[in-house]
Formats: sequence, structure tokens, C-alpha cells
Amino acid sequence: MALVGCGSGVPSASVSNEDLSRRVDTSDGWIRSRTGIGARRVSGPGEPLTALATQAAAAALAHAGWRAEDLDLILLATSSPDDLFGTAPLVQGQLGAVNAVAFDLTAACSGFLFALITAGQYIAAGSVRRALVIGADQLSRWVDWDDRGTCVLFGDGAGAVAVEACAPEATGLLGFRMRSDGSRNACLTLAQTDEQQPLLDGLTSQRGGFAAIQMNGQEVYKFAVREVPAILAELLESTGTAPAELDWLLLHQANQRILDAVAERFAVPRERVLSNLAAYGNTSAATIPLMLDEAVRDGRVQPGQLLGSSGFGAGLSWGAALLRWSGPGAATSPEA
Ligand code: COA
Repeated sequence: MALVGCGSGVPSASVSNEDLSRRVDTSDGWIRSRTGIGARRVSGPGEPLTALATQAAAAALAHAGWRAEDLDLILLATSSPDDLFGTAPLVQGQLGAVNAVAFDLTAACSGFLFALITAGQYIAAGSVRRALVIGADQLSRWVDWDDRGTCVLFGDGAGAVAVEACAPEATGLLGFRMRSDGSRNACLTLAQTDEQQPLLDGLTSQRGGFAAIQMNGQEVYKFAVREVPAILAELLESTGTAPAELDWLLLHQANQRILDAVAERFAVPRERVLSNLAAYGNTSAATIPLMLDEAVRDGRVQPGQLLGSSGFGAGLSWGAALLRWSGPGAATSPEA
């Protein structure tokens, strides 16, 4: 599968650290020094997830030079759907991608990478030729804006990547690894509330609804700085890739200190570690495609370049992929 187009969509309202310090007991200095975050985008009532995801998807389609009817598959990685029955079909409908099957995939901050790998499997199997992989989240709906331990970290956004079948030697997915550890689920949750409703005599059912994000920040931090270098090291070894061959590290944007720790472990210079945390914070499933889109559009990421990517977060879940960016107009032919 070749990566041939990208796009993004973010809400217009930006909330700075100074803005937040008027609501909770925090400061720009604390947030920047602990996380690297300076601001985050927050969606208003008229900006559903579907709108952000569709904007990103339409931009990726235009970048790839495709028509919506050309799509066979739309995968939407999200943990904050507009509709629990699935938001991807809403995106498909708004795009007019009449030939595409569309469904959601939930793996929190690993979601985009897991969805990209999943699309790669459909394409490798020959059942899909062209797909859009979208990562989109609106965690602003689910943070407790009075909890300074979490509300400073997250923001809203969407990113999308267009992928298509190609000759095996041109593949943009050179290897991958995926992991889950549900025994550590309690470290980071967006869980059902335990509210009950009487139904019939002797029968009570549960009422649907979710509690705000709960996080053990120190445990999540330790998890990330241990597991991300380990899974990337495994991936590089299994693909016979030296860290020096990577043009870019494209990591989930959770915390600048995590990015720095991973870069140090592989002796990747800071200028080759992509980061836009300062402007967007942690947009969950959106961080990787949002970052890729920015770096492709400003010319940092060039066709043919190699990217070491890793997503990690709630689940707990984590994964890594060795990617090559092809860009629009890459010569393609069906996968072998
Ligand atoms: N502003 C000011 N002080 C804050 C604060 C904020 N926004 N949030 C927490 N604090 C305070 C705490 O209350 C605590 O105060 P105390 O010592 O008086 O009890 C102090 O800062 C230290 O808290 P601690 O939680 O130990 O801070 P930390 O150095 O671990 O940094 C995180 C907190 C959240 C920045 C850090 O743990 C982290 O980045 N974890 C990973 C989170 C993440 O990336 N999650 C998403 C993964 S996908």
C-alpha cells in the first residue's frame, strides 16, 4: 500500500495555557515545561466530529487527486464518535463515497496507526484498492475542565491519509507491531458510568453514559517511555533498519518529554522529530495524521522518505509502523 495523500481538519477556536489558567489552578510555565503544550483547539456546539473528519477526508482526497466514488474503504479511528453506532458512515455520506464501506475503529491514541495497518491488510489481501484512513477525536467533550491533571493535555482535531494498492517494492508500510495490555486499562479510561434504571419488577438495566477521562499520569508516562522505544527497537530490528536511516520520527503527540526520550534512545536529532504539540496538544487518534499533513504540506516530509511511527495510549495499547511517504501521483499497480 502506498501513502499518496493527506489532509486535516481542526476547529477554529484555540485555547491557550493562559486561557486555561483562568479556569483551573495552572500556569503556562507548568504546562509547557511538563508537556510542551502551548494551546489546543476546542470544538464548539456546531462542530461535530463528523465535520472535522469529513474536512480532513475531503482534503486528503483532493491531495491524492481522487474522486469520492473511487474509494473502497473508509476507516475512522475515534474514541469520541458522534454516534456510538458508527460515525464513519456519516463521513462516507457527506463525502459521497458511494462505493466505500465505512466503519469505526477504537483504539484511543493508537487508533490511527491500528487503522492504517488494518487498511494495509485489506489492500495486501487484494480486496480493497483505495482507502481513506482517518484519525479524529474531540476529547474536549470528555475531559473534566475542572481537573487540571487532564484538561491541559487534550485537544480536538482530525487527520486523514489516502492509501492505495501498489507494487510490493513501492509499499509505504514496510513493517509493523501492535500490542495491547488490558490488565493496565485503569491507567487511562473514558468508561461507562454505573447508573441504573428500574425496568420491570426485579429487573434493573444500566443507563448509557460515560464518565470524564480518568488518568494516572505518572503510570501512563512510565508506560510510554518504556514501551515506545522497545516496540520501535523491535520494529527496526525486524525490518533491518538502522535508526540513522529514518528521515523522521512521527510519534503520537502526547508529551514533548516522551518525544525527547524516544529520540534520545535512538540518537535521532531533535530536528528530525516531528512535533506540533505546542499548537494542538494531544488530539488522540488525530495526532499522527495531523502531524504528517502539516509536515508534508510545509515540505519537510518528501516523497520517498522513511518515517518511524508509534502510537500509544489507553487500552493500554501501543504500536509502531515503518512508513514511507509516496505522495500524490505515485505510480501504482495492484499489489501482488
Ligand atoms: N498545573 C499545575 N500543577 C499541576 C497540574 C497543572 N495542570 N497538573 C498537576 N499538577 C500538580 C499536581 O497536583 C501535583 O501537585 P502536588 O505535588 O502538590 O500534589 C504536582 O503538579 C505534580 O503532579 P504529577 O502528576 O506528579 O506531575 P507530573 O510531573 O507527573 O506531570 C503529567 C503530570 C500529566 C504532565 C505527566 O504525568 C504526563 O505527561 N503523563 C503522561 C500523560 C499522557 O501523555 N497521557 C496521554 C497518553 S496518550
